Amino acid sequence: MNFQFYVPTKILFGEGQEARFAKEVKKWGDSALMVYGGGSVKRNGIYDAIAGPLREAGIRLVDFGGVEPNPRVESVRQGVELARREGVQVVIPIGGGSTIDAAKAIAAGVKTQVDPWEFVSGKVKVEEALPILSVLTLAATGSEMDSSSVITNPETREKLGWSSKHVLPKVSLMNPAYTTTVSPYQTAAGTADIMSHTMENYFSVDTGAFMQDTFSEGILETCIQYGPVALKEPENLEARGNLMWAGSWAINGLTKTGKSQAWSVHPMEHELSAFYDITHGVGLALLTPPWLSHILSEKTAPRIARFGRRLFGLEGEDMAVAREAIQKLHDFFVSMDIPMSLKEVGIGEEHLEEMARACMDHCGGSIDGFVPLNEEDVLAIYRAAL
Ligand code: NZQ
Ligand code: ZN
Repeated sequence: MNFQFYVPTKILFGEGQEARFAKEVKKWGDSALMVYGGGSVKRNGIYDAIAGPLREAGIRLVDFGGVEPNPRVESVRQGVELARREGVQVVIPIGGGSTIDAAKAIAAGVKTQVDPWEFVSGKVKVEEALPILSVLTLAATGSEMDSSSVITNPETREKLGWSSKHVLPKVSLMNPAYTTTVSPYQTAAGTADIMSHTMENYFSVDTGAFMQDTFSEGILETCIQYGPVALKEPENLEARGNLMWAGSWAINGLTKTGKSQAWSVHPMEHELSAFYDITHGVGLALLTPPWLSHILSEKTAPRIARFGRRLFGLEGEDMAVAREAIQKLHDFFVSMDIPMSLKEVGIGEEHLEEMARACMDHCGGSIDGFVPLNEEDVLAIYRAAL
């Protein structure tokens, strides 16, 4: 195993950290772009809780709201323009993954003399960005502790991920109490997203990364235990806190150390969101069981069976346990009230072929994951998910 692991994001976890957060911001500048989404943070008081201490610390705040779920490149362009006009020194996203991802693109866009789509689509490398200090309000994407961002371009029907070490947040404030207002639907979708980030690395050829795999099982167990609790008791801080911290560690790089495979379900899901603007975590949940069934073989059964034994206490020989494990995973998502078919989220057969082709184009011709997938495989998985 050879790898590098470097995640210098400072985490302020728990309640009562707003004044400390303001002190951290002050180290980076005296003016900040406050990036947020459709207004939930204004309604539930999170914006004011953060803005108060920032103003007291003498930081000038410039508001940039309206970032949409599955953030659009047009919003990024507007954010860049505003940040430049106002000469802000720091970018502060307050929200879920969409808000943080848009803030990352804005922070990079301010320092890059090209249209943001140029670096999102990988044509230009980001060399610099404004410092980002984030406030997370939804446990899901891990954007608060990773260097990735996912941006949608409706004109080209593309939803693309890009990453740069320059947009890794310097500091992230993670207060589980901020997530108690998240809707049941988004709570379930976020839990599925955390699980998917973990499973993308866990379901892999065994490279002897025992510690990482066992850690991954811990994240998955956390989701299976606390996801349903958070649905039933939205104010349960133990559940919210465990989900929140699991979300960061699912994707901050640890679980993929010692592994080199590409992710399988995310590229397939990104086409669903690009074509139909659906909720990311829901798309992942409904594609995962069909994907696992599609790749189930003598070769992959032992790993899927290990998942079934460790997470669901199943017993028996590999192939039977692997099959049962896939069903259990499906049932778990159903128990979280996640729509588990494409039809339920308004996707029919019309664009399946086009999406499978686009998926291949965006992955360089094939997905080299646990089991390599070509265009026919992806199409078969989409069809099985109908
Ligand atoms: O827009 P507002 O009003 O804030 O409402 C949001 C939004 O409607 C709401 N919400 C967030 N926090 C809330 C809340 N509502 C009440 N109380 C709160 N405390 O939830 C809705 C969804 O928010 P969004 O940010 O879109 O969700 P999520 O965090 O799941 O982010 C999804 C986006 O992240 C990308 C996805 O593709 C998608 O575009 N991803 C980013 C990744 C990364 N940066 O590493 C990796 C992921 O795999 C993923 O692709
Ligand atoms: Zn994801």
